[in-house]
Amino acid sequence: MVADRSSHTLRHMTLITQDLGPTEQGLAQAVTLLRAGGLVAIPTETVYGLAGDARNGTAVARIYAAKGRPHFNPLIAHVADLAMAEELAQFDERARALAAAFWPGALTLVLPLRDGAGLSSLVTAGLPTVAIRCPAHPVARDLLRAFGGPLAAPSANPSGRVSPTRAEHVRQGLAGRIDAVLDGGPCVVGVESTILGLDGPAVLLRPGGIPLEALEAMLGPIALGGNAEKPNAPGQLESHYAPDAPLRLNVTQPAPDEVWVGFGPGTEAAPLTLSRRGDLVEAAANLFQLLRDADVRAGDAGRIAFAPVPDTGLGRAINDRLRRAAAPRPPAARPLAARPVQP
Ligand code: TXA
Ligand code: MG
Repeated sequence: MVADRSSHTLRHMTLITQDLGPTEQGLAQAVTLLRAGGLVAIPTETVYGLAGDARNGTAVARIYAAKGRPHFNPLIAHVADLAMAEELAQFDERARALAAAFWPGALTLVLPLRDGAGLSSLVTAGLPTVAIRCPAHPVARDLLRAFGGPLAAPSANPSGRVSPTRAEHVRQGLAGRIDAVLDGGPCVVGVESTILGLDGPAVLLRPGGIPLEALEAMLGPIALGGNAEKPNAPGQLESHYAPDAPLRLNVTQPAPDEVWVGFGPGTEAAPLTLSRRGDLVEAAANLFQLLRDADVRAGDAGRIAFAPVPDTGLGRAINDRLRRAAAPRPPAARPLAARPVQP
């Protein structure tokens, strides 16, 4: 087991962040840490999540602290199966049908919280609803079964920054702030789950790994509503998923100082590409790694420019993340945790 000491300057203690493998021993160690209120970054098929015991208020508070998350945004409770989910929330027929069709998978359902669910109120941020997801990654499923309870897990990145799709991304952002990283390889979906509000008429709260079209095929038309990242200011984009370099979208003619990221035919000249053949599934899987690669190539002075991506299927989630990555960045939106402090 490799461990290192991070040199981050923090308001709280620097931890030794353990590297765990997806083995019986690694899973057992992760369960032990989680039962003790520790934080373990875990692989899911969408992005890596920063997991803590959803019933333990101290553990959940530590998740917010480790991410430098400025407000108490509600978190997703991850479950092993539908039975565990039904202990937390009230499922109606729509919710059961969606769970049957898309779980385990990249769909999060926001449902009325059940009395006696036992979740820390920090998970729901005091709301009468709870967001629940049953992830499909085999390591996440094994861990949830072995842990035997719900795990709260936001994406395992410092608040506002690019989401992690590999264990090494987690380590780059959070080493020294969490107890362990459980390595399950690269995330195959590559964008976060789709969030569907079901505490009334169905409403899309965040586009993600399950295309809206697939949900509408079951439920009929779904309202595009709310803004899961900033519920009180609809339409206003908060900087999120942000690399260091400035970012421009829908670019067909990049400037000389721009690292161009292509998509599909007509962008063969781009040094980086979401997908040469214009495949949205491949593009989603590559998105966050490419934001990191483009950032490195851009260096201190350069900028990043993305070619247009169609706004259908997974393209809706890709464009949502890119718009947030390109949003204006007020100084307060660049948290202290954004860059490792040099020793
Ligand atoms: O794919 C994913 O969903 C990943 C992996 C780790 O599962 N998780 C993730 O979590 O993206 P996070 O915390 O980065 O995003 C959760 C979103 C937040 O924007 C939050 O506002 C919304 O879910 N959310 C959580 N509970 C909610 C609720 N009760 N009502 C409305 N939105 C809620
Ligand atoms: Mg996130």
